[in-house]
Amino acid sequence: MEASFWHDRWNANEIGFHQPKPNALLERNFAVLALPKGSRIFLPLCGKTLDIGWLLANGYRVAGAELSENAVKQLFEELGVTPDITPTGKLTRYSAPDIDIFVGDIFELSADLLGTVDAIYDRAALIALPDEMRRRYAGHLREITGAVSQLLITIEYDQSKMPGPPFSVDGETVKSLYNGSYRITSLEEKEIRGGFKGQIPASEVVWHLDKA
Ligand SMILES: C[S@@+](CC[C@H](N)C(=O)[O-])C[C@H]1O[C@@H](n2cnc3c(N)ncnc32)[C@H](O)[C@@H]1O
Repeated sequence: MEASFWHDRWNANEIGFHQPKPNALLERNFAVLALPKGSRIFLPLCGKTLDIGWLLANGYRVAGAELSENAVKQLFEELGVTPDITPTGKLTRYSAPDIDIFVGDIFELSADLLGTVDAIYDRAALIALPDEMRRRYAGHLREITGAVSQLLITIEYDQSKMPGPPFSVDGETVKSLYNGSYRITSLEEKEIRGGFKGQIPASEVVWHLDKA
């Protein structure tokens, strides 16, 4: 998936993946991570998700990575927060108390730059990437976070019926990407009412990847 694909989506405001409310699966399942308040949660490919506001409101700190500066400007505007903006190599860091968002390609983000995180919340990140990028992404996440526990949300549908993104990622794929570093448990499977894009039967699956 080329960067231009995502820049075009943001510039045309074609952001069907953006949800108007914090994600209900996050709200229902976040407790499984058993994180004390003040823990720092990493959201790869974060867009301008309202889940960030939900985490902040619940007393957590947030780090994110997002390609689109347009998205990140909107995120801070919607949070009502003025960020400090600092160029850091190939990335730009948008920071405010309890929040750091790294703007640019996540593959340019290092463990040093990111700093310590206590958990990863992946919604619409792994499934936004085509098959050939997923293994690289999973390895990179492990490398820059030290393989901290994850709450991961995937989608499953018949890929032959529609191209991604989001791509269908089944349990076997999750296991093949993350076995070895994590104990993997499926927490919840929820059928998408009316089907994916109103057309194809689909389910969202919530995974707990617990540091092995
Ligand atoms: C499907 S959206 C999901 C956004 C967010 N997680 C949410 O739930 O609304 C995927 C996001 O990943 C960003 N993205 C894609 N490739 C990226 C990369 N290599 N590095 C950082 N962000 C990337 C896109 O700009 C887009 O905002």
